[in-house]
Amino acid sequence: MTKDWGRKDLLGLEGLSAAEIEALLDEAASFKKSPPDRPLAGRTVAFLFSEASTRTRSSFEEAALRLGAQPLSFSAAGSSLAKGETMLDTMLNLQAIGVTHFVVRHERSGVLESLAPKVAACVVNAGDGWHEHPTQALLDLLTLRERWGSFQGKRVVILGDIRHSRVARSNLFALKTLGAKVTFCGPTPLVPDAFTSLGAQVEHDVERALKGADAVNVLRLQLERMEQGFTASLADYALAYQLTAERAALMKPDAPILHPGPMNRGVEISSDAADGPRSLILAQVANGVFARMAVLAACDRARSVHV
Ligand code: CP
Repeated sequence: MTKDWGRKDLLGLEGLSAAEIEALLDEAASFKKSPPDRPLAGRTVAFLFSEASTRTRSSFEEAALRLGAQPLSFSAAGSSLAKGETMLDTMLNLQAIGVTHFVVRHERSGVLESLAPKVAACVVNAGDGWHEHPTQALLDLLTLRERWGSFQGKRVVILGDIRHSRVARSNLFALKTLGAKVTFCGPTPLVPDAFTSLGAQVEHDVERALKGADAVNVLRLQLERMEQGFTASLADYALAYQLTAERAALMKPDAPILHPGPMNRGVEISSDAADGPRSLILAQVANGVFARMAVLAACDRARSVHV
């Protein structure tokens, strides 16, 4: 149980203490070791997703079921949001029906900051615009912690489209808080030097970035968010920045490869890297269920204190 967690919502990892992050990771690890006895029985979890998802939505649904909660089937496209009802009215109405947890993915960065305090239910960010994807970073950290035990002194390269990535931001905030160093790597238009102000090292040469690193987390090119001109062509990008098994060998021996998915194979990552012995990509996906169980359960306990 997470004595260090007292929030009913998880909107991002920026500003969380090391104790809060470790508490969620500890609870996830404990759920992985022994399944809990339906601590969320009687709760209802609604999924408000206005962007596509495979891993996040499925693993949150599985997490809710393993905790004994009822997932509520809801489709933003087929709901009264499409008739102009506001997000807040939608959430208040679903809450009146019995929803105790909202898991929300939205294209607008920061959309949940003003909504979460206005509802009694827990609100969990499943990815908002370019802002944060906190449960993705938690499952990434859970996967790395299983390998390393501690983050102190480790250096993680985050390689790819950082500009458009909520995953990069959430990982950076959490890794820094837990004592790791982060190198952002990619072409200047996708990794502006201004990101150093967030506390990351910026390196535009992939070989230099990977040399001696403890892990690499590869991000896909977010073609759906990209205006013209960020890369010369996909082929040029792949030549200069694709993570291959050969490039991965520049890292420390056995340094793992992560990717949050979905992968553009042959663009930001080659199949020999994605499917090779260093890859933890499917281990990340499996850990997503436990990380999301921890978040739903920990926020629920804080909500229960406040209702
Ligand atoms: N990593 C991630 O958020 O994947 P989905 O978009 O499939 O949920």
